[in-house]
Amino acid sequence: MSRRLRGELLALPAGTPQSGPLHRQVYAHIRAAILSGRFAPGTRLPATRTLAAELGVARNTVLTAFEQLAAEGYLQARVGSGTFVAGELPGPLGATARVDAAVPAPAALSQRGARLLALRPPLGGTPARAFAVGVPATDAFPLALWQRLLAARGRERGLLDYAAAQGHAPLRIAIARHLTAARGVVCAPEQVIVLAATQQGLDLIARVLADSGDVAWLEEPGYRSVCQAWRGQGLRVEPVAVDAEGLNWQAATHPPPRLIYVTPSHQFPSGVVMSLPRRLALLERAVQDGAWIVEDDYDSEFRYAGRPLAALQGLDGGQRVLYLGTFAKSLFPGLRLAWLVVPPALVEAFVVARRLLDYHSPPLLQAVTADFIDQGHFAAHIRRMRGLYAERQAALLEAARRELAGAIELTPADTGLHLLGRLQHGRARHLSARAAVAGIALQALDEFHIGPCRREGLLFGYAATPPEAMHSAVQQLAALID
Ligand SMILES: Cc1ncc(COP(=O)(O)O)c(C=O)c1O
Repeated sequence: MSRRLRGELLALPAGTPQSGPLHRQVYAHIRAAILSGRFAPGTRLPATRTLAAELGVARNTVLTAFEQLAAEGYLQARVGSGTFVAGELPGPLGATARVDAAVPAPAALSQRGARLLALRPPLGGTPARAFAVGVPATDAFPLALWQRLLAARGRERGLLDYAAAQGHAPLRIAIARHLTAARGVVCAPEQVIVLAATQQGLDLIARVLADSGDVAWLEEPGYRSVCQAWRGQGLRVEPVAVDAEGLNWQAATHPPPRLIYVTPSHQFPSGVVMSLPRRLALLERAVQDGAWIVEDDYDSEFRYAGRPLAALQGLDGGQRVLYLGTFAKSLFPGLRLAWLVVPPALVEAFVVARRLLDYHSPPLLQAVTADFIDQGHFAAHIRRMRGLYAERQAALLEAARRELAGAIELTPADTGLHLLGRLQHGRARHLSARAAVAGIALQALDEFHIGPCRREGLLFGYAATPPEAMHSAVQQLAALID
């Protein structure tokens, strides 16, 4: 780092908090310098020890600030060569800087706008790292085949036009056929609405079926994005504990819900499969309360042993259940295509809501995805990925047995793309922040809790991490624990 940049680090710029914990000040200081472009991507930062001495603070203060910046994607550690400003910053640099500069005074925002801003979810754009959760193996996606299908459909002028808000009919037919055969979902193509993402479905469900202040039950621990989407819409979100049989609503004392969100096939993030008696009782409860169950079947395609339990939606003939699924895991997340299956009486309301939001998903990508399914490539790809993910899970378990024994306990799973590791001692949050500095994306279990979390756990996404990267990441982690 040049003398000029070092000077900038030492001079507190305007707007940097000059009160509050020291590590927060150092964090804000470096973040502001990165966002303003004064510290360009790729700039090497001084060693923490040197910087601490120059700033006159403890080394731990600088370490904590670096860990936070790395966790948010602003900094990257390269083993043996130091810590650098990330090449790709979270969100386009210009946009992030402009947003920061232009954050309106809270009074300028609507109440909803202020609520949304306060949620501050991760804004994406950070490169995938070892153990990232929810990311499939894009390295194994059949790109040449996809390109061929894309080129063929790319010649159709009809796909350049505005299209049906509910979605491309051949894709809805292909999705309905797949769900009926593979997941026991009871649906006709007329009940399928093609969406941009599960996330969009969660937002639409709150808009169409709930009002501000309505109660929603969420799994605890659970999927953070649903909590954020529904809080953003003004819902009162109540955490309901998950036990060995799934959502244990019988033990909850919350007011009756309008919406109940569940991941019964493979609870996110604990991995629990909801038992049949619990499923039946939940359906009964939803009927009593006039509640809607939202079933998120996000990764059920990936089952490695035994027969999967069919979807909850099929158990009541799709009367009280809204069924969400996504191509983000089974194909690739950048595709931004997903689906929502709703009871026939709700179809029109949902299609109108989608029309008013962003009209529809790209017709070209919908047509190519329909071809991919209809020509048998989807089934073949899922089969291949099952084998690959089973191998990657085995590689993770093997590396963990060798390197992490006595520190983190990982149990094999029959379904899904991640494992939950239990820490035998130490704090998961702390380890997760230290791992982030080393370029490892381990999320702590408490990040998935609305209330307090009493167990120390870490999530290991293994699908997008090839075995060699897995081994070296596990070794690095073991060194951090030591
Ligand atoms: C529980 C759960 N649901 C859904 C998704 C996929 O969401 P989307 O389709 O919005 O990308 C994820 C991705 O990580 C997830 O973990």
